[in-house]
Amino acid sequence: MKDNYYLDNAATTLPKPESVYQFMDSFYRSHGVNPGRAGHVLAVEAETMIVETRRMLAQFFGFSGDPNRVVFTQNATDSMNTALSGTLVPGDHLIITRTEHNSVLRPANHLERDRDVRVTRLSRDEQGYIDPNELRDAIGPKTRAVVINHGSNVLGAVQDLEEIGRIVGETDAMLIVDTCQTAGVIAIDMDRLGIDVLVFTGHKGLFGPMGIGGLLVREGIEIASPRFGGTGVDSITPFQPDTYPHRLEAGTVSIPGIAGLHAAQKWFAEVGRAQDPTQTEHAGACCAALAHIETVERGHIVALSEGLKAIDGVKVYGPNGNQRRVATMTFNIDGVPADQIGAMLDADYAICARAGLHCAPLVHEDEGTVAQNGSVRLSPGYFTDEEDIAHVIESVEELAGMYVE
Ligand SMILES: Cc1ncc(COP(=O)(O)O)c(C=O)c1O
Repeated sequence: MKDNYYLDNAATTLPKPESVYQFMDSFYRSHGVNPGRAGHVLAVEAETMIVETRRMLAQFFGFSGDPNRVVFTQNATDSMNTALSGTLVPGDHLIITRTEHNSVLRPANHLERDRDVRVTRLSRDEQGYIDPNELRDAIGPKTRAVVINHGSNVLGAVQDLEEIGRIVGETDAMLIVDTCQTAGVIAIDMDRLGIDVLVFTGHKGLFGPMGIGGLLVREGIEIASPRFGGTGVDSITPFQPDTYPHRLEAGTVSIPGIAGLHAAQKWFAEVGRAQDPTQTEHAGACCAALAHIETVERGHIVALSEGLKAIDGVKVYGPNGNQRRVATMTFNIDGVPADQIGAMLDADYAICARAGLHCAPLVHEDEGTVAQNGSVRLSPGYFTDEEDIAHVIESVEELAGMYVE
């Protein structure tokens, strides 16, 4: 019996690769200075680490534009607010989906209520996939942006970005993609897919720490500064510089956060080279790593969802194991509130799961699970093992047996 069975990687990955903890600690001790503000050697070296991290992330996400357009923020929520409030003006039309997280739903609701932006919320099918034809029909002359949640943090369904990118690419609208649940698991080629703004958070599949996220902004897309302040450059200018990244990065950036992402990027490349030693470039090595990580996680989710589906009284939501998906799934036990199951899994079986609405209320409205206080989410990760999966299946079976006649 382990102390904890961590099945909450959709909330944040745990553990991180050892090299991430080590580099964050050592770099912050040796270079915990204010980068870009002073000309001394430590500040220059810290800035070099940041520049390298922007470069690695650009390659990781298939972005051939200026790495200065890889902007650091606090998290995906911060990035999404920046992207939306910095581009949409009164009279604009915004398209989102009913699978979005509150980091999209709430900014969209505020824009609709406070800035006279019209919002369309695309429906999804039982598995969680949107219909590309509904998207095509929804786009009009005033559509300024389409926001797509690449991977649902409730159902695990992964949207078809190829098709979506093609549809949006034929119009003047910009495509903003929330990669929170897919970055670090599925290779995303921003150039090829025609993504205009890619939003990421550092602490999930990217294996960085909390408090760091970002956005990649394609050339030609200009986002208004969300806040104004020090940048360490152009200090005499009374207004925020127009150039990236300073346009969107006011104030001191997080050296520990960026150092964590830096080490994690190197870890991805190492994992990839262990799979395929011919991959000498960062992008290729990371793609090899993602193919491996995706296979490992798919094994877990197939075993988990098949195991739970076989239990009487258990309902599993979302796609089948083999459909386009990530390793996040939710379930309920007939007639039992989800939070009660979550609390028992924690107290009696040492399982860290997440019960509730998962910050995605429209998914639960559509599923009819609001009255059951949502559903119980299980999200294995790369470091999950077979013992974790077996323990969860046995525990849910025992729990269901207590409730279901
Ligand atoms: C799909 C999705 N989008 C956005 C977010 C928000 O991420 P953060 O809280 O790091 O800003 C999450 C986190 O749960 C998520 O799963």
